[in-house]
Amino acid sequence: MTSGPTQEAIDPVRYIANRSSGKQGHAIASALAKFGADTTLVTGPTQEPDPTGVNVIHVETAEQMLEACKTSLPADIAVCAAAVSDWRIRKKSKGKIKKKGDTLSLSLKKNPDILKTLAKKGNGRPRLVIGFAAETSDVISKASPKRIEKNCDWILGNDVSMGSNTFGGNQNRVHFINNDGTESWPEMSKKNVAYELVKRIADHFQSLAEKK
Ligand code: C5P
Repeated sequence: MTSGPTQEAIDPVRYIANRSSGKQGHAIASALAKFGADTTLVTGPTQEPDPTGVNVIHVETAEQMLEACKTSLPADIAVCAAAVSDWRIRKKSKGKIKKKGDTLSLSLKKNPDILKTLAKKGNGRPRLVIGFAAETSDVISKASPKRIEKNCDWILGNDVSMGSNTFGGNQNRVHFINNDGTESWPEMSKKNVAYELVKRIADHFQSLAEKK
């Protein structure tokens, strides 16, 4: 399970980050553990307490998050809810950058896509890979192609148009998308989204076991 933002240092005192609170990812990790899954949570810096019964790895950057995820494999399930910074500073400054002139240019380098890396076909791919897609408009039409592009099995299109209600808040509105289509879940607490998702994961593995 990944959760929270990542922080990418600009210099020793500044960083690039985002408003992710980690509430949704931490709630899913907690629900997974309650359902009996042996759960590792790889999280960026958040205000959330470590969930009970979960092995927690604290990281700051996207590269550290990817490494921690790789060392947590093999896994049956990967759920990526972290709001990973798409960019990091190409050359971070050793000393605090001084205010000179009216503008400052930062050169950025693309970060690795953790979800895409974990979902790549091949030996060691978790059997069920789940991603999130936070969008402010046309959630379903933007989230659906991401599921294909990132090769994940399920994606939860996450409506963040409510602004602070979702980023940092306790409520969430998601569209659950898999190969069979899309289900739009009503707005509910992040804890309930976690419970609904984990129930669905449990049902999925149950039906796989019954087919054997
Ligand atoms: O492309 P976008 O950032 O909208 O994709 C969101 C999904 O991809 C989330 O599940 C997020 O955790 C994951 N992601 C990632 N690594 C990145 C960017 C996004 O794991 N560098």
